[in-house]
Amino acid sequence: MTAGIEPIRCGYRSIFTPATRRERAANFEAYWAYSVEHDGEILEDQKGLTKKQQILTRFQSNPVRSCQPLPGPGGFYRNYVKMQDDPRTLDRKTLLLTFLYKFARHEFVGISAAWGASSRITESTSMIAKIGRYHLCEEFSHMRLFHERFRTFRVDKVEWVPLGKWMGRMYRLFPRVPEAFMAPPAFVTELMGLTVYQHIDGVLDGILADEPEARDRVRELLKEIMTDELPHVGQRRADVPSILPRRPRDEVVVRPRPHGPGREDV
Ligand SMILES: [Fe+2]
Ligand SMILES: [Fe+2]
Repeated sequence: MTAGIEPIRCGYRSIFTPATRRERAANFEAYWAYSVEHDGEILEDQKGLTKKQQILTRFQSNPVRSCQPLPGPGGFYRNYVKMQDDPRTLDRKTLLLTFLYKFARHEFVGISAAWGASSRITESTSMIAKIGRYHLCEEFSHMRLFHERFRTFRVDKVEWVPLGKWMGRMYRLFPRVPEAFMAPPAFVTELMGLTVYQHIDGVLDGILADEPEARDRVRELLKEIMTDELPHVGQRRADVPSILPRRPRDEVVVRPRPHGPGREDV
């Protein structure tokens, strides 16, 4: 190490910190307890979670609606599934919403395929499989929060349109690929998702400067999603085999923070 450079001590361990098999199992147990405490029990038939549903109901029963109509009426609906116009001609609010839809649409197709390939939780379900199923319920809950974001801008006719034939096939294939091959791209995908959300958080003030109430609501909805997505990164990291020499099975999952994500955790 270069003289004078001290390691950062922030009180949280990196997701690349080595761990023994026992520590790893204990971390998964602790994470499971945190998840159920934070988001509630699984509602299998609704692909939902009890506490997440309550949060959604709270948002819906205290709705915030944009005062300024989107400029260029119809611009969103004309472009949200397939971009018809030159994006340079669209205003930033419409661009933001069309981007959010396109991002979420891929996610919806991906989680729908993964849900179909996974099984209900039973007594004999392993901890890893339970967490995987739970994460899918969180992801479906995020889709409902996405809808509430669109409704905030009085866009209430959004449908999750299936992707094209080949793209749809690719997403159906993913859950059947062996874990050893899928773990690294799955980790990168979760990391990319969180990075996108952080970027969106950073541009909200500029894009929605004339709509402070709507901006604050969109940010609240975003944080509700990001708080779940941070541990998704840690869980996916735990599946990734390290290329560095180390003791066997010495990965660790991220220890979630009760008050939300922070950069030092990733
Ligand atoms: Fe997600
Ligand atoms: Fe995720």
